[in-house]
Amino acid sequence: MSQITLNANLAPYHTFGIDCQAKVLVKANSVAELISIYQNDDWQYLPKLPLGSGSNMLFTSDFEGVVVLNRLKGISVTEDGDFWYLECESGEDWPDLVEWSVKQGLHGLENLALIPGCIGTAPIQNIGAYGVEFKDVCDYVEYLDLTTLQVVRLSMDECQFGYRDSIFKKGLYGNALIIKVGLKLAKSWQAKFQYGALQNLITGEPTSVKIFEAVKETRQSKLPNPEVEGNAGSFFKNPVITKDLYKALKAKHPSLVAFEAPEGFKVAAGWLIDNAGLKGYQVGGARVHDNQALVIVNKGGATAQDVIQVARHVQQTVKQRYSVELEHEVRFIGRTQETCLHDVAMGL
Ligand code: FAD
Ligand code: EPU
Repeated sequence: MSQITLNANLAPYHTFGIDCQAKVLVKANSVAELISIYQNDDWQYLPKLPLGSGSNMLFTSDFEGVVVLNRLKGISVTEDGDFWYLECESGEDWPDLVEWSVKQGLHGLENLALIPGCIGTAPIQNIGAYGVEFKDVCDYVEYLDLTTLQVVRLSMDECQFGYRDSIFKKGLYGNALIIKVGLKLAKSWQAKFQYGALQNLITGEPTSVKIFEAVKETRQSKLPNPEVEGNAGSFFKNPVITKDLYKALKAKHPSLVAFEAPEGFKVAAGWLIDNAGLKGYQVGGARVHDNQALVIVNKGGATAQDVIQVARHVQQTVKQRYSVELEHEVRFIGRTQETCLHDVAMGL
């Protein structure tokens, strides 16, 4: 039987830690419970929102619907001569899985250490860090089709993964609740430690454990711990700009950090925000983080409106200075449905 709370405070369930309420909060421990939640006549006309660990969300107001907490648990491992296969229920914790797998000697997930969130949310924005993305280890993703309540399995190729993108943000948006993830880890492992500071932290033969420790150290040195200062990781995505704009910006700002990408140049949004002098910019309790300008932190008592005002100021300043449009990575959840920075800022 699912656990139900009415008029629940969501602050403990999302990493910004901002007070807000859900009309109904219901915890699902199995696919059968999920189905009964979506079939419940009392909630038929209420909007529903799947929630993992709440580490990529900003609730812009109270949610006038049913928040469905994903707590589906279980992991099993099989292997053949070439791969380990991990079958994971979607409510399992991603960073716990990474740590456990590295300790077991199942290599392949080490670069993705310490990324908060549930395993089942990882495919949605194709989580990535330190030169590896979720797609590199994905075998399949299973979801509950929210129209038919049937289970569907997609292969890695069918998930249409891109930078912070997948089919779950496009064609299947709003109609798929991920219930299971299959990972495939190659036994013929190749160390990846060319990303930035990581290279200098690895000495001697690179091992999965060494990379895991180096990634942890790097992340802990720059990213704020949500348990200490609420945040949702990078607030904006790294934008891809045209070659012409890149050349013009690079001529004007030689220290600009950018990498060639298939569609142009991917620019470090953190560099843009930092070099616009916005580190430490604060409204109420929300502040551009002092170490990593791409992160907005809750210094204590921040409201969603504080975060929105900081984000809007950052977006406008970057646009004015560099002619670059920043798109937020964090998902904005409004009163009854997902919204966006542009729309909520208009309402302020
Ligand atoms: P939630 O925030 O709970 O949900 C995110 C979205 O997915 C919401 O729209 C929600 O409705 C939907 N959703 C949740 N569960 C399901 C489901 N089962 N089926 C369908 N929809 C669902 N991300 C990176 O890619 N790389 C990083 O290095 C990184 N570092 C971070 C560091 C910090 C300190 C923080 C706070 C965040 C970081 N993130 C990073 C972002 C975050 O960790 C990922 O986006 C993560 O996958 C979110 O998982 P979650 O379970 O918390 O998702
Ligand atoms: N930079 C600055 N000032 C800053 C922040 C960054 O100049 O305040 C520069 C750095 O010096 C570096 C470059 O920008 O040269 C890139 O910085 P970093 O290596 O910290 O990575 P990022 O681009 O800011 C991305 C992801 C992170 C991921 C890291 C590591 C996005 C939006 N963010 O950050 O993911 O952990 O790379 O791979 O792609 C997240 O998505 O929530 C997240 C934290």
